[in-house]
Amino acid sequence: MSDYDVVVIGGGPGGYVAAIRAAQNGLKTACIEGRGTLGGTCLNVGCIPSKALLHASEQFETANHGFAKMGLKVDKVDLDLPTMMAYKDETVKGLTRGVEGLFKKNKVDYLKGWGSFKDKNTIEVKGEDGKTTTVTAKNVIIATGSVPASIPGVEIDEKRVVSSDTAIALSEVPKHLVVIGGGVIGLELGSVWLRLGAKVTVVEFLDRIVPGVDGEVAKEFDKILRKQGMEIKTGTKVTKVEAAGKKGLKVSIEPAKGGDGETLEADYVLVSVGRKAYTGGLGADKAGVEVTERGLVKTDDHWRTNVEGVYAIGDVIAGPMLAHKAEEEGVAVADVIAGKVGHVNYNAIPSVVYTTPEVAGVGQTEEMLKEAGVDYKVGKFPFMANAKAKVGLHPEGFVKILSDAKTDRVLGVHIIGSSADNLIAEAVLAMEFDASAEDIALTCHAHPTLSETMKEAALAVAGRAIHF
Ligand code: NAI
Repeated sequence: MSDYDVVVIGGGPGGYVAAIRAAQNGLKTACIEGRGTLGGTCLNVGCIPSKALLHASEQFETANHGFAKMGLKVDKVDLDLPTMMAYKDETVKGLTRGVEGLFKKNKVDYLKGWGSFKDKNTIEVKGEDGKTTTVTAKNVIIATGSVPASIPGVEIDEKRVVSSDTAIALSEVPKHLVVIGGGVIGLELGSVWLRLGAKVTVVEFLDRIVPGVDGEVAKEFDKILRKQGMEIKTGTKVTKVEAAGKKGLKVSIEPAKGGDGETLEADYVLVSVGRKAYTGGLGADKAGVEVTERGLVKTDDHWRTNVEGVYAIGDVIAGPMLAHKAEEEGVAVADVIAGKVGHVNYNAIPSVVYTTPEVAGVGQTEEMLKEAGVDYKVGKFPFMANAKAKVGLHPEGFVKILSDAKTDRVLGVHIIGSSADNLIAEAVLAMEFDASAEDIALTCHAHPTLSETMKEAALAVAGRAIHF
């Protein structure tokens, strides 16, 4: 007899959701988490704290530079960074406690400590006090997530050379923050510190920012960020970061293709060159679970590893490292274990960059369609032609819908603009239901709302936009 039907290792968005769904399926379930709080990277040091700082810093920026345009006179708004950080920490605390509450409600046992395999059905849990307990399980779900990656010549010390873990908790506004990597983390956290008064220089290896995002959107994004004051050096690599005096850093950069280098002086460096799967201390080998050279746990399309009864989901397996992708997998794997149908539609996973304006996308980009030789149509609509965007003083950006040239089926939707994070949901639903652009165009959207940009872009696919 095993202690549990299901033991989940890791209490992040993948793991805790899998545990709750497994318990809902009537399986006796435990979730092992060693961090001290549930919610994983996302709730503790990722999505949530960064969004709190993005929200607060955007308010700061608007109060200082946006109010006057609407006839609101305020004296200069001052920054109280410790209070801003406390607001962020309180938000995180409330949410992680909320997950504990959900465990209680669903009768999931929360085992505090770091889990490692003794064999495929036996897990050792090492608590904070150093004491070890052992649990047995019929099924184990590995949901151990990911950790920040670095590059040669750059050592993250989490003091001056920081990962996102520390960039959300600095005790002062940097004078000059050099961000290595123009991806999601670099641009979100770069935006936070830029708004709070730092000089920010982003160094990106490729010749464009946010690889993976639709090229036209990325170009517009680059233009807008530069206008906001962010310095962006694309096609440039960092070769070395060295200490210079007590508080300084020297960042050596050179063209990615080779050539003369230069040195940037900074007081903080954020390393945001991607994340790597985390299986440290998991003892995957003791269970015989195959892990790739890059540390990813190999699975089939039903999240089964090579070992019967051992599954893996989230950042530790292939695919985009996104909390909502992990959550979908968590629900699906718990259903598979319970003998039900578990499915994730990987073609309809949205991605969002929470800058101002936001950038969001789902499905194929124009580059992907070109490469695949797919015949497609494009419909675009600018936010400046939308009444609600004008009222909100957010006229930047556009919605772009890509649909199949013959069937009109929506293949991808890409947005740069205000509330893109929420607007993309309609596109995801449309794609989930195999909608055509015409379906969206024929759907009544409330006026005045930002969502009308979606309807108009869908109309534009057939060259029939009304307001542009
Ligand atoms: P990323 O993969 O988004 O971006 C890394 C960037 O660093 C790329 O543009 C890459 O070309 C560049 N790079 C790599 N090596 C370099 C070098 N030597 N010099 C200069 N640039 C270099 O990774 P990021 O931003 O670290 O995020 C990690 C993960 O976390 C991603 O999978 C992301 O999706 C996820 N995440 C998602 C968020 C969201 O959904 N809003 C927020 C934050 C993170």
